[in-house]
Amino acid sequence: MKVIVCKDYDDMSKKAADLVISNIKEKPQIKLGLATGSSPIGLYKNLISANEDGEISFKFAKSVNLDEYIGIDPANDQSYQYFMNENLFNHVSFADTKLPYAPENDEKYAEEYNKYLDDFGQRDIQILGIGENGHIAFNEPGEVLNRRTSIVKLSQSTIEANSRFFESEEDVPKYAISMGMSDIFNAKTIILLANGKKKHDAVKKLIEGNTIDPKLPASFLSLHPNVYIYVDEEAYRG
Ligand code: F6R
Repeated sequence: MKVIVCKDYDDMSKKAADLVISNIKEKPQIKLGLATGSSPIGLYKNLISANEDGEISFKFAKSVNLDEYIGIDPANDQSYQYFMNENLFNHVSFADTKLPYAPENDEKYAEEYNKYLDDFGQRDIQILGIGENGHIAFNEPGEVLNRRTSIVKLSQSTIEANSRFFESEEDVPKYAISMGMSDIFNAKTIILLANGKKKHDAVKKLIEGNTIDPKLPASFLSLHPNVYIYVDEEAYRG
């Protein structure tokens, strides 16, 4: 894992975007794995600017996303589909984009997405954020981690962290459909973004920890050969 300590959120977003931009220049038909949440918004802004400036184009690029809440319509402004539209897809034109979707708790939707991922093939880059509890996608800390896309129950820590986007904690969906660890690993390069003091504990354990532990799902990233961790000063030093 290569750790790149950045001054602040903007610096983190710019540096991570530069890596994505250079990859798109090299391979316009790039396959991207995308994340939602606060962490990648700045990165997406940089990609949008580079696209507007004519530096890169997404004309041949394809993307898949990590996860989506269950029970929220894609048109709802709390859905991850809506988030992606607002923060990236409405601004640049991809050849193809896809998010997992499950209107109800039924593993058949996870199987459908796994089939889609198998046909999609290996991603060139997977972008990740990290939960305060060390989750990646919605692979929550526990005794076991899912290999493939599954219907997952969100942990209390995640529900609390995500309640900032909802009117109240009760409104936060309790279930999601999420790629599993082996899906995340099926990317040539992984970029993990972590900013802010709240991420310090998880980041410290990830960088300094010596074990791979399902109670810190991000720790599995140390098994992947090509991981870049872009971390701002606050998340790095606490
Ligand atoms: C989002 C996702 C989550 C977030 C994580 C951090 O698609 O899979 O794992 O990356 O919860 O969220 P933020 O960036 O909002 O702190």
